[in-house]
Amino acid sequence: MGAALLLYVIEGAAPLLTITLVWAVVLALRGNIPRHRKIAVTHAVATVVSYIVVIALVRNGYRLEGKTPEWILNAHLTVIYAIPLFLIALPATGLTGRRSAHRALAFVYAIAWTAALVTGAMIFMAHRGWLR
Ligand code: HEM
Repeated sequence: MGAALLLYVIEGAAPLLTITLVWAVVLALRGNIPRHRKIAVTHAVATVVSYIVVIALVRNGYRLEGKTPEWILNAHLTVIYAIPLFLIALPATGLTGRRSAHRALAFVYAIAWTAALVTGAMIFMAHRGWLR
């Protein structure tokens, strides 16, 4: 089925989620914890909402009918499915003062996010026929 709606959602959500994540990291590194909490929670809620919307669209037949190589799709899905686990563990450790666990999780989460963005961009490029 048409991919346009799915593309609009992903193209709209990905920059918003990336900006809020980078913003949350900058605030945390500057020691502005009250604002870090607000922006990080905004990022987490927005991520969960876009997740639900994308899954609903895919389940209803909206797909990017690209010729994405299987390994890229598998890598992307593996990372994407791990993200909700971090979104439970990050607030759980941050809000209970387990700072070193929170920092370690934050580091892995940032890497996972970068991997999701890179593999997501590759799927997009395959859909456009820029990647073979
Ligand atoms: C999802 C909801 C999140 C909540 C509610 C939250 C909350 C907090 C809180 C309360 C602290 C202070 C901990 C303490 O003083 O013991 C903290 C610190 C920190 N957070 Fe988060 N956080 C969240 C997500 C994230 C994310 C997504 C990242 C980065 C990927 C991140 C990176 C950090 C870092 C690096 C610190 C340490 C700051 C320092 O040591 O000065 N947090 N967070």
